[in-house]
Amino acid sequence: MDDRLASAGYEHVPDDAGGTAAQGWWDANAAEYLAEHGRFLGPADFCWSPEGLREGEARLLGDLRGRRVLEVGAGAAQCSRWLVSHGVDAVASDVSAAMLAASRAYDEDTGLRTPCVQADARALPFADASFDVVFTAYGALPFVPDAGRVHVEAARVLRPGGTWAFSVTHPVRWAFPDDPGESGLTATRSYFDRRPYVERSEAGRVLYAEYHRTLGDHVADLAGAGFVLERLVEPEWPEGHTRTWGGWSALRGALLPGTAVFVCRLPA
Ligand SMILES: C[S@@+](CC[C@H](N)C(=O)[O-])C[C@H]1O[C@@H](n2cnc3c(N)ncnc32)[C@H](O)[C@@H]1O
Repeated sequence: MDDRLASAGYEHVPDDAGGTAAQGWWDANAAEYLAEHGRFLGPADFCWSPEGLREGEARLLGDLRGRRVLEVGAGAAQCSRWLVSHGVDAVASDVSAAMLAASRAYDEDTGLRTPCVQADARALPFADASFDVVFTAYGALPFVPDAGRVHVEAARVLRPGGTWAFSVTHPVRWAFPDDPGESGLTATRSYFDRRPYVERSEAGRVLYAEYHRTLGDHVADLAGAGFVLERLVEPEWPEGHTRTWGGWSALRGALLPGTAVFVCRLPA
């Protein structure tokens, strides 16, 4: 199989080529990703974003005592492991076998056992109304063309009154080059251009795709799945935080939002 990156840019891709590519891309890149970001993320910590917003302080999910919690697009399940370390009944899921293998390795390192299931967030192997809270920190949603299906699945597995919370790149960022430096401060694309960012192999195969949705698109998807949006959190860049993560940096964080965290509820 031809896996070498040959081109990158913004373009529409047919049907589910991007969504299908995600599993292969994360399987191939899990080790490199965790080598770069693993120390910042974990192994047993709940970080919502490159700004370092942590659930331990933000408490966006409320009191989780006695709650059953599902994480989708969990990666190496650092967030769920943190919940498990606090006595919460949490299950992690992800489409990538390599990410789940990394999760098991973190379990061995920490002595914590984090239940993990391999699953596409658009087709969850769980019963209706079986969780009180579903969440993801930058998982699944950016990598599928049909994010609405993730919201519908979250709504299906949640009990009435349950919470769905997710963080994504702040939609405003899509108008700017993904550069942590000065050139990342000037808008060069339309905020309304929904073409995904796509990487292709020499043979033209889609290796990676990341999808943009405007704030209005997210709200429409949530309403379509029956959710009520309770909070939209835009974490500010903390003073003294110097770590750069891709296009996120102190320079840009001082001027532009980098992350949007949506906290939603199913009507009771
Ligand atoms: C940026 S990581 C987020 C995980 C973790 N919070 C972190 O920060 O490392 C994105 C994760 O989404 C997963 N993912 C991508 N598409 C998915 C899908 N359709 N269903 C479930 N997980 C998916 C990837 O395998 C990857 O582990």
